[in-house]
Amino acid sequence: MSVVVVTGATGTLGRVLVPALHAAGHHVRAMTRTAGRVRSSYEVVADVLDPSTLGPALEGADCVVHLASNPRKDTRRTEVDGTRNVLAARPPGASLIYLSIVGCDRTPFPYYRAKTAAEALVRAAPDGYVVRATQFHSLAGFMTKPRVLGRSVVPRGALMQPVAEDFVASVLVGAVGDPGGAPAEIGGPEQLTMAEIARRVHGSHVISLPIPGRFVAAVRRGSLLAGPDAVTGGAPLGAV
Ligand SMILES: NC(=O)c1ccc[n+]([C@@H]2O[C@H](COP(=O)([O-])OP(=O)(O)OC[C@H]3O[C@@H](n4cnc5c(N)ncnc54)[C@H](OP(=O)(O)O)[C@@H]3O)[C@@H](O)[C@H]2O)c1
Repeated sequence: MSVVVVTGATGTLGRVLVPALHAAGHHVRAMTRTAGRVRSSYEVVADVLDPSTLGPALEGADCVVHLASNPRKDTRRTEVDGTRNVLAARPPGASLIYLSIVGCDRTPFPYYRAKTAAEALVRAAPDGYVVRATQFHSLAGFMTKPRVLGRSVVPRGALMQPVAEDFVASVLVGAVGDPGGAPAEIGGPEQLTMAEIARRVHGSHVISLPIPGRFVAAVRRGSLLAGPDAVTGGAPLGAV
């Protein structure tokens, strides 16, 4: 049994990963900034932007799975400074697994630039490992939600490879047991257009527009799709 600290434990993936690590026999500490958000004795309160809180939170850890992230506010600071702080606060010899996003380095978007910069910090650190995942089912559903008169509006030809959160969690549980053997990428079982995603998840009529811009052009070229060496699987996308 090892001591595993999960940052971002209250997030979409963290809520699935924490019980999966627990079930695999690890002693889990689930990090949140707000006391009481994790209803259990293994909650630990800390902020990746406040190094003074990280020492006690990471004390005795064998492995840190770093999921804390904030795409909406303080994005770059949380990703880059936060990752630097977590790397520095680890006990000597503790590994750190950082979850990033497939194609973040080839898809022009500010959040993805911050992920790419944080990846570089992790790769340069001893016992630092980067694992990238494609978009989670919940995000794919959110991005294609019907917003105009009951219709989903999506960029024509945009491609994604949505992955189930519980599959990502199961791969990360394996990575905690053998960080050196962690896969570079995790993806879902199918490559889908966003129009197909909208139909499957929401059953909605879809308006596919030729949306311009470098971001959509990259996604249309397949920048968010996992590579041939990715670990792929999990449930196909259905109702979220
Ligand atoms: N969503 C996707 O489709 C997807 C795909 C591939 C990779 N990823 C990556 O997977 C990771 C987890 O994603 P997610 O969607 O599960 O995230 P999420 O739902 O947005 O949750 C992020 C968590 O980070 C914590 N957090 C934010 N700022 C923090 C800070 N300053 N200090 C400590 N904790 C902080 C929040 O916890 P509190 O508010 O409780 O403190 C929150 O629970 C992210 O790194 C993301 O880039 C996501």
